[in-house]
Amino acid sequence: MNSLSSSLIRFLIRNLRTTKRLISGTVSQGSEKIRFDGQTAIVTGAGRGLGKEYALLLASRGANVVINDYNGSRSGEVLGAGDLENAANLVVEEICRLYPQANVMADYSSVSDEAGARGLVDKTMKRFNSVQILINNAGILRDKSFAKMTIEDWDLVNGVHLRGSFLMSHFCWPIMRAQKYGKIVMTSSTSGLYGNFGQANYAAAKMGLIGLSNTLAIEGKSSNISCNTIVPMAASRMTQDIIPEELARRLKPAYVAPLVVYLCHANCQTSGSVIEAAGRWFGRHRLQRSAGSYLSEAGDRETSLEQLAASWQEICSDFSSKKTTQAAIETFHEHLGELMSVFEKNRDQ
Ligand code: NAI
Repeated sequence: MNSLSSSLIRFLIRNLRTTKRLISGTVSQGSEKIRFDGQTAIVTGAGRGLGKEYALLLASRGANVVINDYNGSRSGEVLGAGDLENAANLVVEEICRLYPQANVMADYSSVSDEAGARGLVDKTMKRFNSVQILINNAGILRDKSFAKMTIEDWDLVNGVHLRGSFLMSHFCWPIMRAQKYGKIVMTSSTSGLYGNFGQANYAAAKMGLIGLSNTLAIEGKSSNISCNTIVPMAASRMTQDIIPEELARRLKPAYVAPLVVYLCHANCQTSGSVIEAAGRWFGRHRLQRSAGSYLSEAGDRETSLEQLAASWQEICSDFSSKKTTQAAIETFHEHLGELMSVFEKNRDQ
């Protein structure tokens, strides 16, 4: 036996307890398993797709989980009365089969309905007496070019994504504030971040959620409530005719679940972030402002229209590296501070 092997064996014997736990799988990569014992999570739209994977992972890690799904079609119509409870119930059954100790409950409300959202939170409190985690995931699509989009298409999509996430957060907020703890996750989309043909309604709702999340992160801070937004990409019913088959195996909904579940853990101190999960790729988004231009040669009463036009390239496209501090702006206050320093440097005569 060489000296390296004998030192390794001596090290393992000295750390016998950790070694045993490493072998049994209760320690991953030198750290404790991430668990949620005693905590309660509500996952909306958890009857299939991404939400189902969040529910499975949370239940496997000891959380009480409320599986909400009103069992609608992809465009939001309620499926036949006989199917009404199926999606959420099937997930509850699967979790109970896989994790017989799990505490799970199905709920069939629509999150866009005030009474439904309130009832879901009330029911959760009645059964589990607390809500630590809220994952706003339920979603529908009604894609049409803006020329063809009806007011109903707009209202239904915004109703589920934006109003539904608002209503659920609204009813959970006092509970989280009172217990001085809460973790909220919103679900956005690249369609919101970049826009997408045929998705004006969906893109608006998805970008609105980032504003809502950023503000809840600020207002929740003093009560130890965090709020983050995820931007997922996964092969699900929602994307079944969009994502090609060969890509679908790289984009399993289960790959996204660790991000969402980690954001819901007490160890994760991140709040007010927008994090993308595309298959097994994860990365954070942030807004970037150009270096911009201060138009100082205008008259007293107005900014010069011609000067603005002449500076257009600099205003819109100057992200030059020597001014990269601009990219580091993360909060409204940093933004205001930066603006003040520009005003300070460019005092009007
Ligand atoms: P999915 O269609 O597989 O599942 C969505 C679930 O939400 C369905 O089971 C549906 O019955 C439920 N639901 C819809 N309206 C509801 C309401 N008012 N109340 C309660 N439940 C309701 O969709 P998927 O792909 O799992 O999407 C989950 C979330 O992720 C959605 O918010 C979606 O917009 C978002 N997303 C998904 C992407 C993807 O690549 N799959 C990309 C970007 C965002």
